Amino acid sequence: MDTLRLLILPGSARAGALSGRLAAFAARLAGQQGVQARLFDLRALDLPLYDGDLEAADGVPAGALALQAALRESDAVLLVTPEYNGFPTPLVINAFDWLSRIAATEQYPAGLAATTNKPVALLSTSPGPLGGLRAMNTLRQYLQMAFAMLVAPQQFALGRAHEAFDEQGDCGMRAQRKACKACSTR
Ligand SMILES: Cc1cc2nc3c(=O)[nH]c(=O)nc-3n(C[C@H](O)[C@H](O)[C@H](O)COP(=O)(O)O)c2cc1C
Repeated sequence: MDTLRLLILPGSARAGALSGRLAAFAARLAGQQGVQARLFDLRALDLPLYDGDLEAADGVPAGALALQAALRESDAVLLVTPEYNGFPTPLVINAFDWLSRIAATEQYPAGLAATTNKPVALLSTSPGPLGGLRAMNTLRQYLQMAFAMLVAPQQFALGRAHEAFDEQGDCGMRAQRKACKACSTR
C-alpha cells in the first residue's frame, strides 16, 4: 500500500503556539505509524486579509495556490485549531476563504477541487479546560458544508494544553496521547 501523505495545519503560527506543539506531536505519532506527515505553516503563505477589491485588482495571491498545491499533494488533512472567542482563528479561515476563490483555469483546477472528498481530522488545544472544543464544531461545519471535505467523526480537544507537553514536546498523559493518535492516524 502507498504511504499515506498527511498535511498537518496548525491554526496558529506564533512562537510557542500550543496548537503548533500539538501539531508537531501529532506529526511525530503519525510518523511512527508509517504516515508521511507534512507540517505546514499557513502564516508563511503571506496571505492578505481577504478583500474583494484586492482580488479584483491582483487576482488570487500566490499563497492560495501554494495551499492548493499542498492539499493536492496530500491524501488527508489534520487541522489543529486554537479557539478565539469560540471560533477558529482568522489564519485558517482567511487561508481557506482565499482557496475557495481560485477559479478553474487551463493550468489549475478550482480551489475547491483540492478539498472535495478529502478526509480531514480535527484536534484542538487551549489552556482552558474545554480545550477549544467549540472551534472544532464550527470547523466541522465550515469544512463539510463549504469545502465538501469528509470530516472524521473522531476529534479531540486537549484542555490545559500549556501543562501537557514536556521539554521534548511529548504529551505524557496516556489518555490524551491515545486520543491524539486516533485522530492523527485513522
Ligand atoms: C482573541 C483571543 C480569543 C480567545 N478566546 C478563547 C476562547 O474562546 N476559548 C479558549 O479556550 N481560549 C481562548 N483564548 C486563549 C487561547 O486559547 C490561547 O491564547 C492559546 O494559547 C492560543 O492558541 P495558540 O497557543 O495555539 O497560539 C483566546 C485568545 C485570543 C488571543
